[in-house]
Amino acid sequence: MAGKIGLILLAAGKGQRMGLDTPKPLVDIMGRKLIDYPLRACEGFLKVLGKSGYIGVVVGHASDVVAQHVESLGLGVPLLFIHQREQRGTAHALKVYAESPEFKEVETVIVACADTPLIGSAHMGKLFKFLEKSGQDAVAASFTMEDPKGHGRIVRGAGPGFCIVEEGEASSKEKTIKEVNSGLYAFKQSFLAKYLPRIANKNKSGEYYLTDIFRQELPVEAVHFFGNSIFKGVNTMEELHDVGCALRLRKLSSLMEKGVRILDKNSTFIHEDVLIGRGSTVGPHCVIEGKTVIGEGSTIKPGSCIIDSTLGQGVSVGPYAHLRSGSNVGDNCRIGNFVEVKQSFLAQGVKVSHLSYVGDATIGEETNIGCGFITCNYDGQEKHRSIIGRQSFIGSDTQLIAPVKIGDRCFVASGSTINQDMEDGDFAIARSRQVTKKGGSKRFLKGN
Ligand code: UD1
Ligand code: CA
Repeated sequence: MAGKIGLILLAAGKGQRMGLDTPKPLVDIMGRKLIDYPLRACEGFLKVLGKSGYIGVVVGHASDVVAQHVESLGLGVPLLFIHQREQRGTAHALKVYAESPEFKEVETVIVACADTPLIGSAHMGKLFKFLEKSGQDAVAASFTMEDPKGHGRIVRGAGPGFCIVEEGEASSKEKTIKEVNSGLYAFKQSFLAKYLPRIANKNKSGEYYLTDIFRQELPVEAVHFFGNSIFKGVNTMEELHDVGCALRLRKLSSLMEKGVRILDKNSTFIHEDVLIGRGSTVGPHCVIEGKTVIGEGSTIKPGSCIIDSTLGQGVSVGPYAHLRSGSNVGDNCRIGNFVEVKQSFLAQGVKVSHLSYVGDATIGEETNIGCGFITCNYDGQEKHRSIIGRQSFIGSDTQLIAPVKIGDRCFVASGSTINQDMEDGDFAIARSRQVTKKGGSKRFLKGN
């Protein structure tokens, strides 16, 4: 079968059961949007099989923002947007698609739901191959659920044919069936063209159910997939949590496979697009988000939070450090406890070991920053930069009032408030002189 494939993602629904203002396909999960997962699975499917085809996204509720986001991903396969203006059910969504000229171009149609992000291209491939080999016209992926509530039940007959009974329509006997519909299907285009128009909405909800296309007497088959977790859908906040956990553990496994040491899977949150080099270790209770990149052999100690930052090799961060977006930390740097860094460039070997705020700064290589250092980067209206050269020594409890520039190999004495530039090799001390009164503590201490 050399024919073209249409991969249709159903994403027009409102996601009412979530109770969020954000349209369901755009809900954040692991640093991505929910719809990104099935989209990438579809993209992977077309690329792996080397087939020609497109991804057709059925949009409806908040269609503009959803379509805009999908386009912004820059997927390497053709995209088609199918506008389902009223959401009258999953079969109605496909009826709208079937009216498009693109529908006529394909030989096979694979349908997936935008709210089942654990499904991968391999599952789509398996179902597609089954359709090809079995000689059936339509196949649905099914799985077993201990608590099948809310899912369409697979009602099998004597032959390969079957039908799907939605929760709301099921008899009490049908409700005991634990084999359920996953929402992933593969169809011959000709089958859809013939049977879609026959689907009616004569049921309790008045919706057109795509699941009604499967009937005992037709050449259709339900393919049972073992391990139900891949088909978990996101319809409620609790399911968002559960699916988020599954994706999180999957990400941690893939990092460990690449030689990253994770000390506690249960408390470690690492976003999907984070890259970490082999030989690095991430301690408990760390959160690493966005497009963060961490080099090889680095150590992220407990309780650290890193967002959209780039770290080199052999870096040590934490415990309890906060690297906010735009932190660029060179090889062998040390960022210690209770240090916050933001929009800053730290060249290799810089040490900021304790209780400091480094914002909008550039720090040259091997510069040592003492404890309790603060860049005063904000004047109430604008942010300003602090620049420190290489191999300088900044004493503890120093504040830099930005904009300010300190040269290479400078020395700033502890407790200084620096608001004037320093040239290479300068020494600065900016604190009031100490006054010591011989035996003067008597005035203040009782019992002396
Ligand atoms: C659906 C299946 C059910 C299956 C379950 C698996 C139907 C009728 N039921 O139920 O058998 O067990 O998925 O997760 O298909 N959508 C549209 N347009 C519409 C309606 C829905 O695009 O008019 C989209 C939704 O955005 C969603 C997907 O279709 O991505 C599925 O809709 P949803 O309401 O979540 O169906 P389920 O109740 O989960
Ligand atoms: Ca669903």
